Amino acid sequence: MGAANKGTLVVKAGVKRLLGRVGFDIVRSTNHRQGVDDFLPFEATMRAARAAGLSVGDYLDDVMNGTPGATQSTIDKLGGLGVFAAAPRTVLEIGPGSGRYLEKTLKECSPERYEIYETAEPWAAYLVETFGVVARPTAGASLAATPDASVDLVQAHKVFNTVTFLVAARYFFEMARVTRPGGRIVFDVMTENCLDPEAVHTWATKGGPGHDSYPAAMPRRACVDLFASLGCRLEAEFLAPLGVASTEVLVFQKDFDTAG
Ligand SMILES: C[S@@+](CC[C@H](N)C(=O)[O-])C[C@H]1O[C@@H](n2cnc3c(N)ncnc32)[C@H](O)[C@@H]1O
Repeated sequence: MGAANKGTLVVKAGVKRLLGRVGFDIVRSTNHRQGVDDFLPFEATMRAARAAGLSVGDYLDDVMNGTPGATQSTIDKLGGLGVFAAAPRTVLEIGPGSGRYLEKTLKECSPERYEIYETAEPWAAYLVETFGVVARPTAGASLAATPDASVDLVQAHKVFNTVTFLVAARYFFEMARVTRPGGRIVFDVMTENCLDPEAVHTWATKGGPGHDSYPAAMPRRACVDLFASLGCRLEAEFLAPLGVASTEVLVFQKDFDTAG
C-alpha cells in the first residue's frame, strides 16, 4: 500500500453513500492540493470488484455508476473515428484512476510506451504492475517528464470535470505540447451541451456534494478555440454519461504542419 493510501481520510458515511449513487466514492489525502487528491479508495474498490466477480473497470461502470457498457461505448466510438487504427506507438493518459479506459485502450492497440500521470499513488502503482505502463511524476498540471511532440494519443477521461479550471487549462497546453503532428487528443469536459436546464436541475438536486471541484464545467468554445490556437483541430465530439447527467468527449487532431 502506497504512502498516499495510508494518509487518507474516509469522508463522512452519508456523503459517501450519496457519492456512491452518482458514481463518486472518494477518499481524500491529508495532503490536499486544489482538489487533485480525491480518488477512489484502492483496497475497498478492488475488494468490491472481486466480490462481484467483475474487473474493476466493469465494476465501476456496472455497479458503482449504474452505466453498464459506458466505457466500452466511448472506446467503440473512438475506434469508429480511427483513433486506434492509427496504431499509436506512444499513448499518454492523465488521471487513469482504476485503468478502465487504459485496459480497453490496450485491447484496441499495442503502443510501445503507455505513460500515465496519476496523482493517486495506489492506483498508479497498480497500473504499473498490472499493465506495464510508465508512471510519470505528477504534480498538479504538468507533463514535464514527456518531451515535446512525442505522443501519438493523449487522453483523459472523467478528469477535467473533477479539477479546477486552472488545472484543466494548464493540462490543455501541455497536451498540445506533447502531441506529435497528426496525433490525437481525446478528453471529456462538461460543456454547455451537457447543461440544459433539466441537467442543471438534476446536478443541483442530486449530484456532486462532498467534493470541492466536482462537477466542474468548461466552456466548449474556450476549449475548442484554445486547441485551435495550439494547432489542434476538433475532429469529432459525442456525449457520454457522467454522474447524474453527461459530459462531452472531444477528439482533436494536431496539424501535420505544426511543431507547436
Ligand atoms: C473521476 S476519476 C476518473 C478516473 C478514470 N479516468 C476513469 O474514468 O475511471 C479522476 C482521476 O483523476 C486523478 N487526478 C485528479 N487530479 C489529477 C491531476 N491533477 N493529475 C493527474 N491525475 C489527477 C484522480 O486521482 C482520479 O484517478
